[in-house]
Amino acid sequence: MASAERGPSTRTVHAGLPAAAQGEPFLPGPVFAAPFHLQGPVDAAPFGYTRNANPTWVHYEAALGELEGGEAVVFASGMAAVTAVIVPMLRPGDVLVAPVDGYPGIREIAREHLAPRGIEARLVPTDEDAVREAMPGATLVWLESPSNPGLDVLDVAALTAEAHAAGALVAVDNTLAGPLRTRPLDLGADWSMTSASKHITGHSDLVLGYVAARDPERAAALRAWRTTTGAIPGPFEAWLAHRSLATLAVRLERQEHNAAAVADALRARADVADLRWPGVGAVVCFALESAERAQAFLEASALVSEATSFGGLHTNAERSGRWGTDDVPEGFIRFSAGIEDTEDLVADIAAALDRV
Ligand SMILES: Cc1ncc(COP(=O)(O)O)c(C=O)c1O
Repeated sequence: MASAERGPSTRTVHAGLPAAAQGEPFLPGPVFAAPFHLQGPVDAAPFGYTRNANPTWVHYEAALGELEGGEAVVFASGMAAVTAVIVPMLRPGDVLVAPVDGYPGIREIAREHLAPRGIEARLVPTDEDAVREAMPGATLVWLESPSNPGLDVLDVAALTAEAHAAGALVAVDNTLAGPLRTRPLDLGADWSMTSASKHITGHSDLVLGYVAARDPERAAALRAWRTTTGAIPGPFEAWLAHRSLATLAVRLERQEHNAAAVADALRARADVADLRWPGVGAVVCFALESAERAQAFLEASALVSEATSFGGLHTNAERSGRWGTDDVPEGFIRFSAGIEDTEDLVADIAAALDRV
């Protein structure tokens, strides 16, 4: 059976591991080095200096590449990964299409760093017609599906085909779905980008990101950018991330089971509005009638930690409006289901809502 046809847990538990070798561990430990011994010509060994390459990244990138169906390049954070795609490719006069309602980082880059260099950003809602209308003359179309925090979903394959026909390249921020649920490269995208700070690592203890590409020249360009800018992950972070990847499929299965149960329970309540769950991933969004009630709910719950980010083992949530970067109602909550027992979680949320 080809490895791509095996089940998700089989793939994640084996992803990127070197061939069995007598007396060696399953996953080699992190290699801590700034310089490596390198005698003679600079290409005499694959590793000479860790800003250029490190053996621990090689294993983790092999794992991510298997899951994405392309070549993966790991970065110090999701935003370092976003930057590695958009900054080196866009030139004065180019046009970026990006979501107005997605993760705000790309809008900040566009405003602070692209606009002053004469690069136009067309910011559009996560809506197929809106993206389509913005395509003519675009250089790069950046899609985020499902979007954060609205959880809107796009037909990535259709939009990618249309963008290519219009002469634009396409990158997809796949953070919410991840490679076990959506593989943007299979849908035709030129880059698949993920913040690995979320469910890919899943223990709320790492900030990392990666980009996958099928074209070897694009992957090489990402590596070159990482080497030049130094946006590298530490070997220990990369090793922990690889170790966490083994449980990705089982974590995600439980998180989605919990997310579905919470969504069902919230849907049944008259005091909860605008419930969203795209059917994949741990994140459920909903609105309570005011910021005060949303805040009181977060305080009343025993199992829902008030914290930003999502995708971790421990259930957490926050009022998205507190950051001032998302155009959402004041009582809008982004909730991320952890792996707690489903009955405990649903009961805790119901009790907290009843109390406030
Ligand atoms: C959709 C999305 N893209 C990118 C990022 C940025 O990732 P990082 O925080 O790892 O830099 C985030 C972080 O929340 C995100 O939610």
